[in-house]
Amino acid sequence: MTEKKRRSQNWYGKLDKDGFIHRSWMKNQGFPDHAFDGRPIIGICNTWSELTPCNSGLRVLAEAVKRGVWEAGGFPVEFPVMSLGETQMKPTAMLFRNLLAMDVEESIRAYGIDGVVLLGGCDKTTPGQLMGAASVDLPTIVVSSGPMLNGKWQGRDIGSGTDVWRFSEDVRAGDMTLSDFMAAESGMSRSAGVCMTMGTASTMASLVEAMGMCLPTNAALPAVDARRTALAHLTGKRIVEMVDEDLTMSKVVTKANFENAILANAAVGGSTNAVVHLLAMAGRMEIDLSLEDFEIGGEIPLLVNCMPSGKYLMEDFCYAGGMPVVLKELGAHIRPANTVLGKDISAFSEGAECFNRDVIYAYDTPLKPAAGLRVLRGNLAPDGAIIKPSAASDHLLAHEGVAHVFETIEDMKATIDDPDLPVDANTMLVLKGAGPKGYPGMPEVGNMPIPGKLVKEGVRDMVRISDGRMSGTAFGTVVLHVSPESTAGGNLALVQTGDRIRLDAKAGALELLVDDAILAERRAARVEPAPHYTRGYAKLYIDHVLQAHQGADLDFLVGRDTRLVTRESH
Ligand code: FES
Ligand code: MG
Repeated sequence: MTEKKRRSQNWYGKLDKDGFIHRSWMKNQGFPDHAFDGRPIIGICNTWSELTPCNSGLRVLAEAVKRGVWEAGGFPVEFPVMSLGETQMKPTAMLFRNLLAMDVEESIRAYGIDGVVLLGGCDKTTPGQLMGAASVDLPTIVVSSGPMLNGKWQGRDIGSGTDVWRFSEDVRAGDMTLSDFMAAESGMSRSAGVCMTMGTASTMASLVEAMGMCLPTNAALPAVDARRTALAHLTGKRIVEMVDEDLTMSKVVTKANFENAILANAAVGGSTNAVVHLLAMAGRMEIDLSLEDFEIGGEIPLLVNCMPSGKYLMEDFCYAGGMPVVLKELGAHIRPANTVLGKDISAFSEGAECFNRDVIYAYDTPLKPAAGLRVLRGNLAPDGAIIKPSAASDHLLAHEGVAHVFETIEDMKATIDDPDLPVDANTMLVLKGAGPKGYPGMPEVGNMPIPGKLVKEGVRDMVRISDGRMSGTAFGTVVLHVSPESTAGGNLALVQTGDRIRLDAKAGALELLVDDAILAERRAARVEPAPHYTRGYAKLYIDHVLQAHQGADLDFLVGRDTRLVTRESH
């Protein structure tokens, strides 16, 4: 034990009434005296929930973490926090990411723990936990759920999300029967774990590894692989050492770790959602990160051949060598940066070997050149918007066309299959009201379906523009996160059907080709939309949420407060 008094001793090391209360009630669970002798107390922050099926394996992993903590001389205590089931929550799990972050932050701060292991996986659970932990800044390490086994159906591999989008368009086009569609359901999700495409969950796990916030190989090991359970055990051992080394989150993560995450996101063909999550995490850590910083990923090639940018799935990525190989291929592009090992990130790729070059490509002979996310600007998105070229159609990345506007999601759903909808393959579909304040919660509806009459003609991609997000598993030429959002009065609110819009992804341009004078007239005539919620958490969220280019955190949650709470409850 180090000289410094442990944080937990402010709870369990007191020989007075307060110490009695803290220890005595914990002893009702059968913990012996020596659990309170000053050893590191490790909080295991668990987002297990039956309503978050992606995290259903976390109970097993929590037990493995505990074995590692005891082995290293620590005392593990598991606690639940709000869990966000991406596929189950309405209107969108993103509405609650900041609420989870508040739960995590206040749980860590209020309890007598010295270090924390974050158990998460499903899309919003990883960033929500990291945001909350960052605002307290104890030694912190991540164990991810890990991906589901590859989906299987009719003798072939199918991918979470990505094939749902595909199948659903095929049904609408009449190319797939409804009974086949229903049959694919059970084969798609056939083990514990997160989406096994490079969706947001596996993207965030990959970026956490690139940031050095977990043990190497954490990102890709399948949820049910025994090696993940062993990794959880080793993580339990490591967090005890981290407490002894006083290796807090801010001593591990600096701007360089975020830059490495951005580079890795390009190489893995990662989710657009990583942008809002990284921005929000950086805000908590008081690290100056902005949309411009994402441009360093623009020239990085696509190396990982996983859906939605490629064809394989996370199991294949794991067996090909996983993130250590990606970090090795990125080589000198990766910035020197600390990790939870207390060593430079280069330690994560030491001895890495690629076992399948069709799954992980070499940097010099990539799957696609210059594949990172592009930041777009122009009068349609003065504060920025993004597009993911690796998942888009090359011929649409520079495109000028006529807008067809949906004023709301309900408008879009009611009219998209109208045989008289005045659209063709060159039309640019525009959706308003899908931003942070608008939906509320910035849902994943930016990849609007292709209008029914065009899908039947074989059209499978069109330019789509919105202030919403899209699933990390989705694909298409989709402009997202337009900022400021329409509900907050961004120029997106002023677009009308028939306007011309110019997109040039390579040049980073998104222009509404309408005179300023006309836009000013439209702005003067604009009626402020009524908020969807007038009480409760959703109201707090609408009143305080920041725009997408700022990470969509709540304004009063940015930054951190690392003070020890000294006042007692009795
Ligand atoms: Fe949970 Fe995809 S829905 S990871
Ligand atoms: Mg998703």
